Amino acid sequence: MIDVSLGDIARALGGILSADADPAARVTGRVTIDSRAVAEGDLFVAFVGEQADGHRFVPQALAAGAVAAIVERPQDGPHVLVSDALEAVGALASFVLATLREAGDITVVGITGSSGKTGTKDLLAGVLRDFAPAAGAVVATQANNNNELGVPLTILDATRDTRYLVLEMGARGIGHLAYLTKLAPLDIALVLNVGTAHAGEFGGIEATAQAKGELVEGLRPGGIAVLNADDDRVLAMRSRHGGITLTYGTEGRGEVRAENLELNDRACGEFDLVVPAHPAVPADAQGSGHVTLQIIGEHLASGALAVAAVAGVLSMPAGECAASLSAANPASRWRMERTDREDGVTIINDAYNANPDSMRAALKTLAYLGSRSNARTWAVLGAMFELGPESAVMHDAIGRLAVRLNITRLVVIGDAAGAIHQGASLEGSFGGESTFVPDVDAAYELIEPQLRPGDIVLLKSSRDSGLRYLGDRLTQLRDIEQGAH
Ligand SMILES: Nc1ncnc2c1ncn2[C@@H]1O[C@H](COP(=O)(O)OP(=O)(O)OP(=O)(O)O)[C@@H](O)[C@H]1O
Ligand SMILES: [Mg+2]
Repeated sequence: MIDVSLGDIARALGGILSADADPAARVTGRVTIDSRAVAEGDLFVAFVGEQADGHRFVPQALAAGAVAAIVERPQDGPHVLVSDALEAVGALASFVLATLREAGDITVVGITGSSGKTGTKDLLAGVLRDFAPAAGAVVATQANNNNELGVPLTILDATRDTRYLVLEMGARGIGHLAYLTKLAPLDIALVLNVGTAHAGEFGGIEATAQAKGELVEGLRPGGIAVLNADDDRVLAMRSRHGGITLTYGTEGRGEVRAENLELNDRACGEFDLVVPAHPAVPADAQGSGHVTLQIIGEHLASGALAVAAVAGVLSMPAGECAASLSAANPASRWRMERTDREDGVTIINDAYNANPDSMRAALKTLAYLGSRSNARTWAVLGAMFELGPESAVMHDAIGRLAVRLNITRLVVIGDAAGAIHQGASLEGSFGGESTFVPDVDAAYELIEPQLRPGDIVLLKSSRDSGLRYLGDRLTQLRDIEQGAH
């Protein structure tokens, strides 16, 4: 965080500074909710989480060097008493961002969408780090911290060196993005897609579109919306603000566009990036460049194009951006993570999360890879959660798709995913075979002995299905990890 006095913090939060706290004492480090991570000069927030009550850890945090704690109940030692720690963190984030904006040159980019937020955020942060390599110039959401706690904590990671603040913003209902963009009014709002992820919580795809569009309404005056022209619900969001919109998409649709897009033998997108003359794009950034992604899947080319559009608005030359995109590797784990085993088996672990859109995209990529190398393909699938009343139908459809794509072997794990197996079995004309197993251990026992050189294995499920660790076992990463301890 920026260097702020306890007195200013208490004022910003409308909190009460304890008598033993020195209002002139300065927080020079980070704001953290984990007492184990506290370092000298930090501010500790006693957050009441699902598992633990942070108030218990105030003494440790102060002993570890925290200047003070933000608390909801009075504690021993210097603290700021507030009525709601979550709101307090939000208020502090707003205050810090406003201070940084007054002081100089910081651009805030918000990213939302149903699928691909984290992957796109990682890619954008990487590209911007190439563009602005000075230490601390780019601060981005870590992992998936995209909610009402993660977003303000990310903002609080910004310092006076920060030029670009990249915020992944998740929404599970109406009003969520309005809240997040009130904390952090945006210079650039990037909306990727509107799909069926978390559809159960939203109450249908139109409600999802309504909620995601709040990101665009969260732009500051003069802010720019960057919208996916290949998704009509996203494109329609251009009318939800009065400012300039830059679109991106495939040939003939997007302003920033991918020409001659194709997948190479590794199923990585290749295309000519074109960044045209446009009121949102400074002249230096306009131009073109060839992109060869290292990231697997046609759907991820769309995220790369989104990144190029944002980079263009930020005046990164198109050629430089194309080179940076071509060098980028996935930064967060378990997202189309490819491992080539020494014995010639390829594992693609995409089991961080799943919804029908990302399942379909991953299955198509698997089929594509199989067809390019004439390989046997294995789809190892677990349940997709949070889909609402349509859940069984959506699982069934995935099973049928696996059959239509001619996947060689389908392995369905766990009762919650049973409809995938049923769908595949009912679709008929399946040259391959679908097997249902109760859990990941049974899946491992089934799959591992049968793997042959050349086989390509995709793992895909929602996070709670635990398939990502099955993937690690199949790549033997886990054995190596365990061996090291
Ligand atoms: N445009 C897309 N269409 C379909 N699937 C996609 C698209 N972009 C990415 N995905 C896939 O969606 C899955 C989730 O990716 P990622 O974690 O980046 O999404 P997210 O939006 O951050 O999800 P969450 O809501 O959990 O934060 C991955 O399997 C990824 O390959
Ligand atoms: Mg995410």
